[in-house]
Amino acid sequence: MSTIEDLPLHLRGNWAPLQEERTLTELEVTGAIPAELDGRYVRNGANPITGYSDHPFLGDGMIHGIRLRDGQAEWYRNRYVQTPFIADPDRQVIDIAASLTDMASSKANTNVVGHAGQILALEEGHFPYVLDGNLETVGPTDYDGRLTGPFTAHPKLCPVTGEMLGFGYSMMEPYLTYLRVSPGGELVQVENITVGGPTMMHDFNVTENHVIFMDLPAVFDIELAMRGEMPIRWSDDYPARLGVMPRNGTDESVVWYDIEPCYVFHPMNAYEENGTIILDVARLEHIWRDGPMDFPEPALHRWTIDTGSGNVTDEQIDDRPAEFPRVPDARVGLKHRYGYMMANAAASAFEEPLSANGAILKYDRETGARTSVVVGSGRLPGESSFVPKADAASEDDGYLMTYVFDANTDASEFAIFDAGSMSDEPVATVQLPRVPFGFHGNWVPSSTAD
Ligand SMILES: [Fe+2]
Repeated sequence: MSTIEDLPLHLRGNWAPLQEERTLTELEVTGAIPAELDGRYVRNGANPITGYSDHPFLGDGMIHGIRLRDGQAEWYRNRYVQTPFIADPDRQVIDIAASLTDMASSKANTNVVGHAGQILALEEGHFPYVLDGNLETVGPTDYDGRLTGPFTAHPKLCPVTGEMLGFGYSMMEPYLTYLRVSPGGELVQVENITVGGPTMMHDFNVTENHVIFMDLPAVFDIELAMRGEMPIRWSDDYPARLGVMPRNGTDESVVWYDIEPCYVFHPMNAYEENGTIILDVARLEHIWRDGPMDFPEPALHRWTIDTGSGNVTDEQIDDRPAEFPRVPDARVGLKHRYGYMMANAAASAFEEPLSANGAILKYDRETGARTSVVVGSGRLPGESSFVPKADAASEDDGYLMTYVFDANTDASEFAIFDAGSMSDEPVATVQLPRVPFGFHGNWVPSSTAD
């Protein structure tokens, strides 16, 4: 008989999947939920329905959501995204042929965003899945037949135009496709982009006038795929490059810039300034060089592309390991002063969560200061979403929202912190049963999707 110790780390402790979907009302609140917050905080993560997955990225998508209105937490729900894997849990997790040809065969486990009246559960190899306001699955979308390949889990929502800019990458040609969705939710541009081969392109960047692709040496390996393993590995031969293209550009208009080999899952933000393009990113020295659980510690770096000389500089901003970088939604593609990250917990914190002391970091890129919210002993936060106050007087005048796991009680809370003061004392918390660690979440105001 297997024991809990036999399970891989990504299925133990607060990584362990939940067995049931719940709807909870009459929630216990401490502090005061700001009455101006009208919407849903939603977060996606991998929660294998069979109880087992070979890799932390391969579990089935489960959305954890909380509805705020009039200073109340009306409900908490957790719901599987109803993909074909939920209907048929016996289906192979890695069936490359089926995965590459059936764009509805998504795990839908990586991110959840609101755009053009819809809530979309996203995973980077397949179609988005549309959810309703109660987190029930409506179904996959192909944007009226215009989308024929994968859609990234990290589209960028332009705060100026309302467009959703994204891309898809595939192990089959076309390896990379640029996707531009109008403010009304119409897929208006599908542009194949020439790259040197199939790579894992997890995220990308936008600025006021451009998009920037990160073509990095995490390459698709057919032999790994044939063995049913995670089909991506590090390559010492594949050049690392950044590709800059006008937002409505074509393949021919992409300008490529060589950079030192590295991997970036997540940029914080990008913007244009005085003939340069600046990208703040969570940079890893490499990825999956020594197998699919090889994750070097990420840290905040700044890349500066001099578009005149073609030179790219790389400056390490901090040596403290951190991931899940974010800026306020209103600063995406524009110059930001503040960025927020989740301090990386030491690996020992996952083995011994009572030893954890999780924190949310705030970077002031004007002064260079780093401040933090320390969430407490035995406690770990997830990715934070910034939500501005209704009468915000500055870029950081708002709230940080996240789920916090408490190993002392084996339970979680939804926490709202003050981003301006970065006080350890939350503005409000909503007590919840255990919410497993997950990936990405967002605040979806009722004005965006309801
Ligand atoms: Fe991600």
